[in-house]
Amino acid sequence: MTTEAKPTLQAQIVPEVAAHRRADHPVDGVFINRWSPRSFEAKPVSDDVLYTVLEAARWAPSGSNGQPWRFIVAKTNEQKAKFASFIKPGNRAWTDHAPVLILIASSKLRDNGEPSPSHAFDAGAAWASIALQAHLLGLATRAVGGYEKDQAREVLNVPEHVELHAIVALGYRGAREALPEALQEKELPSGRRPLRESIIEGSF
Ligand SMILES: Cc1cc2nc3c(=O)[nH]c(=O)nc-3n(C[C@H](O)[C@H](O)[C@H](O)COP(=O)(O)O)c2cc1C
Repeated sequence: MTTEAKPTLQAQIVPEVAAHRRADHPVDGVFINRWSPRSFEAKPVSDDVLYTVLEAARWAPSGSNGQPWRFIVAKTNEQKAKFASFIKPGNRAWTDHAPVLILIASSKLRDNGEPSPSHAFDAGAAWASIALQAHLLGLATRAVGGYEKDQAREVLNVPEHVELHAIVALGYRGAREALPEALQEKELPSGRRPLRESIIEGSF
């Protein structure tokens, strides 16, 4: 049985986001209200919350239900220090403060040893679920692709058949004023190009 979707209108976008974002078409507020801050509070993320966020990713769709995603989690000081060793300095201003870091990876091989043609696409779906579930729980995420992959592979003993994608900083959003001054003016929801510029009807 399907229930009728109830799209959310601009009025349901939270005011601080509505000042910067406008939907071209009615869409649930979760998609517009989520954004990636750089400031994170010191407040810890409980394991219950962390596992709920990862549970959302578990239910992402994947090619042949192969579930190629792997989540390398850093939450202790020791684990986070390892991550800090390969994250590029420009990103440390937020990754050092987020209480949890999740390196999203995916297996290039299916359980039967065959190559998975969709592992990266599937891992992207898992990341989107993480970001949206975190937002629904009042947390924030920021994905970080700026890290040394070869070094990460070595430090974390990542096997050859596992591809590394982005590191997700997860935590509660912090105050803008806690950021270095140069970053404070960037601490805003970003915009998007018009939808029509992304749609190719029929063929290119
Ligand atoms: C795969 C990926 C890699 C990213 N890498 C970085 C990064 O290295 N540093 C950074 O500050 N933000 C990074 N971002 C965050 C994006 O810049 C951000 O998601 C984008 O500007 C859209 O903004 P929003 O998430 O607030 O809607 C990355 C995002 C993704 C999905």
